[in-house]
Amino acid sequence: MAKDYQLTDHVYDVVVVGAGGAGLRATLGMAALGLKTASITKVFSTRSHTVAAQGGISAALNNMNDGDNWRYHMYDTIKGSDWLGDQDAIEYMCLNAIPAVIELEHMGVPFSRTENGTIYQRKFGGHTIDYGKSMAQRSCAAADKTGHAILHTLYQQALKHKALFFNEFFAIDLIMDKDGTCRGVTALSLEDGTLHRFAAHMIVLATGGYGRAYLSCTSAHTCTGDGNAMILRAGLPLQDMEFVQFHPTGIYTAGCLMSEGARGEGGYLTNSEGERFMERYAPHAKDLASRDVVSRAITTELQAGRGLGPLKDHVYLHLEHLDPKIIHERLPGITETARIFAGVDATKEPIPVLPTVHYNMGGIPTNHLAEVVNPTKENPEQIVPGLMAIGEGACVSVHGANRLGTNSLLDLIVFGRAAAYRAAEVIHKETAVKPLRPQDGQEAIEKIDRLRHAKGSLKVSEIRLNMQRIMQNHCAVFRTKEHLEEGIKKLNNVVSSFQDVYLSDRSLIWNSDLVEALELENLLQQSLVTIHSALNRTETRGAHAREDFPKRDDKNWTKHTVAHLKKDKVSFTYRPVHLYTLTPEVEVIPPQERVY
Ligand code: FUM
Repeated sequence: MAKDYQLTDHVYDVVVVGAGGAGLRATLGMAALGLKTASITKVFSTRSHTVAAQGGISAALNNMNDGDNWRYHMYDTIKGSDWLGDQDAIEYMCLNAIPAVIELEHMGVPFSRTENGTIYQRKFGGHTIDYGKSMAQRSCAAADKTGHAILHTLYQQALKHKALFFNEFFAIDLIMDKDGTCRGVTALSLEDGTLHRFAAHMIVLATGGYGRAYLSCTSAHTCTGDGNAMILRAGLPLQDMEFVQFHPTGIYTAGCLMSEGARGEGGYLTNSEGERFMERYAPHAKDLASRDVVSRAITTELQAGRGLGPLKDHVYLHLEHLDPKIIHERLPGITETARIFAGVDATKEPIPVLPTVHYNMGGIPTNHLAEVVNPTKENPEQIVPGLMAIGEGACVSVHGANRLGTNSLLDLIVFGRAAAYRAAEVIHKETAVKPLRPQDGQEAIEKIDRLRHAKGSLKVSEIRLNMQRIMQNHCAVFRTKEHLEEGIKKLNNVVSSFQDVYLSDRSLIWNSDLVEALELENLLQQSLVTIHSALNRTETRGAHAREDFPKRDDKNWTKHTVAHLKKDKVSFTYRPVHLYTLTPEVEVIPPQERVY
């Protein structure tokens, strides 16, 4: 069959899969450090989902506060993670936030400015000064289009450093050696249907999250977690997949993001009784409590019948009390989104919103140097040679059970940068890249061939919708054993139904039906792991709220879930949470009750 497909081989020092914020920061860093670097990306780089990030990137620059400090940022992130985050990695991220953001500024990111010319910083949920005493202005923002500003600058920098881009190439699977070393990756060129094998000293997965497993999400249609699924198929595990973040303010009903920056600028939420209900759930931080707290509060209000509209299924986000000048200057993007998707003039009327899937805390386990880890009982930190993961697809774990807003852009930049430094350290450029074997990549070819000619009875879109409905209904903000078990039964049927898929396009030229089928398979595998992980964790922590286990259980569950998938069956091992720091500069923050 291989002879039916044109196969091209490539060799680089490093191949970065994915060209969003993390992928680009790694790519340009590696190229700048002298590594022969290629980026393969299924969408043109500046269309990556990072372009949609709005509210900002956190760093304790202290431009607009009295006495912000990276140690406060570290404390807030650990508390935000509900003590599931690895404290060494969080220390690394918060300390390196400062030089990493200044570097972005020097690369040319057009940040908004204060009157004295420094980077403008706004408030965001869960970010405080002096260990919770007051709210911090820590989010470095380019109006409400920060991701857009960063992504375009990084792309220009990558070109400047002569990184090579394989645009509109869909990565199919990793090429692994028998000894567990990653040797390369296979990919399909969407433009002409040619198949490619990339061999490299290091493959870096920067493939993003899998928000599209759900019906309503803020993620782009391309957010299908392709790298995560490649990991599962390579026999490696994913970590903490039960932790799916709902952003409190997705626009009703389209799901587009209404940045938390809106509340950072003074916006607030009300229910059908006009009540500012967050005062009851988070008396100090109120509307700027962390996202899991606000999303749960909204869902509780809706369940209590205090939602708006005939279906009582949303609440209001108010900005109309703010000076329209501020709205136009600092929140132009969401003002436009509110007009287009809700028909609302945000300077005059409240915006209807509801919690919407936004981010995956779980993903590919790594250490703080971006190396992929395959935890075993004997060695929970065992590294997978030749493989790195960064960005939303990775689980470093700096976000633990719940990510603070603005820590995602930060994670992309800090660990993209860390990956570049580490790759330059471990790669011996003078050593030849190990040649691939003739059989490497055959499975990918067989899969493409099988799917392309699939003659079942169900369209990709039908199977996808079935999966998305199940995830939305059975694995959402609040979870119970019964509901999850019912969801698993239904999902098993949907997974089996993929055998009966039908593709209408049999060509190899820009076959979007084929791409969507490949993405669907990826989503199904991650959905299985997610819903099983949610059933398995019998406690409430961060974004994982079990109504039948309403308390955090530190004794039994201060550990990372490590989920394996084999023939559609999920099994679990565990990895200890890093309750230690990297340096004596800071002390461990022991678990505490989490109140805002
Ligand atoms: O609300 C927002 O602007 C989203 C930011 C984030 O997820 O970090």
